[in-house]
Amino acid sequence: MLSLAVVLIVWLPWLPQILSRSIQQPLAIQPSPSKLHGRFLHITDMHPDPHYRADMSESSACHRKKPRKEKPRSGYYGTPFSDCDSPLRLTNLTLDFLERNWASEIDFVVWTGDNARHDNDRKIPRTLKEIYVLNNVLATAMENIFVKKGIPVVPSLGNNDVWPHNILPAGPNHIIDRFSSIWDAFVPFSSYQVFRRGAYYPVEVIPGQVAVISLNTMYFYDSNKAAGGCEYGEPDDPGNLQFDWLDVQLKIFRRRGMQVWLSGHVPPSPRNYFPECYVRYVELSLRFQDTILGHLYGHMNIDHFFLLEAGDLEFPSEADLIPDDAREEAKDSLYDSLINDFGKLPKKGKTDYDNYGVVNISPSAVPNPYLPSFRIYTYNITNAGDFTKKKRRKHGHRRGKGNKAELCKEKEYKDSWRCKLDEPWHSDPDAPSRVNTLWSPLGYAQYYLPGDRLWNRTREPKFKLEYLTYRLEALHPSDVLYERGIELGRNLHRSRWRI
Ligand SMILES: *[C@@H]1O[C@H](CO)[C@@H](O)[C@H](O)[C@H]1NC(C)=O
Ligand SMILES: *[C@@H]1O[C@H](CO)[C@@H](O)[C@H](O)[C@H]1NC(C)=O
Ligand SMILES: *[C@@H]1O[C@H](CO)[C@@H](O)[C@H](O)[C@H]1NC(C)=O
Repeated sequence: MLSLAVVLIVWLPWLPQILSRSIQQPLAIQPSPSKLHGRFLHITDMHPDPHYRADMSESSACHRKKPRKEKPRSGYYGTPFSDCDSPLRLTNLTLDFLERNWASEIDFVVWTGDNARHDNDRKIPRTLKEIYVLNNVLATAMENIFVKKGIPVVPSLGNNDVWPHNILPAGPNHIIDRFSSIWDAFVPFSSYQVFRRGAYYPVEVIPGQVAVISLNTMYFYDSNKAAGGCEYGEPDDPGNLQFDWLDVQLKIFRRRGMQVWLSGHVPPSPRNYFPECYVRYVELSLRFQDTILGHLYGHMNIDHFFLLEAGDLEFPSEADLIPDDAREEAKDSLYDSLINDFGKLPKKGKTDYDNYGVVNISPSAVPNPYLPSFRIYTYNITNAGDFTKKKRRKHGHRRGKGNKAELCKEKEYKDSWRCKLDEPWHSDPDAPSRVNTLWSPLGYAQYYLPGDRLWNRTREPKFKLEYLTYRLEALHPSDVLYERGIELGRNLHRSRWRI
C-alpha cells in the first residue's frame, strides 16, 4: 500500500487523466497516407521505479543505504551501467523529449513492454497493484502524447508486466482482463475478444496498407512455467493457439496485399523460446517472408540483431545441439554467440535470401545495464498515395524437405512441428523486406542519454543521436527539421556539418 501511495503522489499531475479514462475508445483517427512521415518510434523496457532515490547504493537497487564517500552513488536522472531501474524523473524526461521532438514527426509507435520495475529488491517485493499503476501511468502518457494526435501506439506485454514475474497462465485471466482496460486506447475494439484470450492483436497503423501485430511472447518464453511450450500434441496450448491465430492473420493480410511488422517483448531466439515455439516462429516468418517487413523486439536491453534461419527447421538444428547447461551459459555470452552465428553465414553471392529473416532488438529506455535509448525507424513512403500499384504477390513454392523424409518416420521426431509444417512458402525477391520499395524499412536512428550527465541536478540531460544506419540527410528531409536533425546529431557529426 505504501508503494502505491508513493506512485500516486509522484505522478499526481497525471492522476486526473487516470481516473477519467473512458471504457473503450477504438482508434478514431489514423494517419492518412498523404500525411505520412515515413518514420515510427520503437521504445522498449522503460522500467519506471517509484522507489528509486538519488545518492543511494547500487546494491540496494538504488532504493536505500547511502554509501560511504568513495563508493558510487545512484544518479539523479538514473544510474547508467547498473542493475537499477529508472527514476520516474527519467521516464518523464524521456516522454517529454518524445513529445517535444517526435510526436509530430512519426506515423505510429511500437512499444514492446516492461513498464514496471524489476523484481530485484527483496525488501520491497513487487505487487500486482504497483505493476498496474505503473502501466496505467505510462499508458495514459502514451495516449496523451501520441494517440490523441492520431498516432497509433501498439504496446505488447513484458515479462515484468505480469505477476509473479515471468508467469502468465493461458487466458482469459484477470491479468489480461486488466490490460484490456489499461490499453483500451490502443487495442482496436474488433480485436477485443481475441485479446481477452491471449493479449495479442493487430493494429492497421496505415489502414489497408501496413499493420503491426503485437504478439504475447509470454506464451513462447521458456521461463513461463505456466505455458506448455507449443508441443505438437497440445493443440490447446496457449502458444499453439497464438501461432494458429498468427497464421490466419498473416494469410488475411497477405490476401489483402498488406505488409506487416511483427512485434513483441521477448525476441524469438533459441535462448529465449521453448524449442517447439521457436520452430513455429521461424517457419511462419519464412513462409510469410513476402508479407512481413521485419521483427521488432526488446527484453534483452542490448542493442543487436540476429537472423531467423531455414536451417533451424532441419534436424538437428544448431539450437538442438546446445546441451541445457550450455544453453544457460550461452545466455551470458550473447556477443560470442552472435559473432559465431554471423561467421557461419554463406558468402555474398551464395546466400539464398528465402532462408532468412532479420530480428531487430532495441536497447532499453532504462539505463540497465547500459544507457537510456530508443529508436526512430525510417521506411519508404515514396508513391504511398498511389494504391493502384498494390502488388499482387506471387504464389507459394514448395521448400525442399532436407533431411526430414527419413527422420520424421522415427518415433522420436514424428510428432514434432518440424515434421508437420509443410505448407508452401511465400518468399519473393521483390517483397519490401528484400528490395527498397513502398513500405520497406530503410534503417533507424538510435538516440541515447550520455551517462555522465545523469548525476548533474542543475542541468537536465538531453538525448543525443548515437548512430544512424543511413545518411543523416534522410532523417529529417524538410529544411527546418533538417536543422534539428543536425542539432540532435551534433555529437556524432560535428566535424562534417557547417551550421
Ligand atoms: C513530466 O512532469 C512534468 C512536471 O510534473 C509535467 O509537466 C509533464 O507533463 C510530464 N511529462 C509527461 C510526458 O507527462
Ligand atoms: C522507395 O522505393 C521506390 C521504388 O518503389 C524508390 O524509387 C525510392 O527511391 C525509394 N525511396 C527511398 C527514400 O529510398
Ligand atoms: C552541472 O551542470 C552545470 C550547468 O551546466 C555546470 O555548471 C556544472 O559544472 C555541472 N556539474 C558537474 C558536477 O558536472
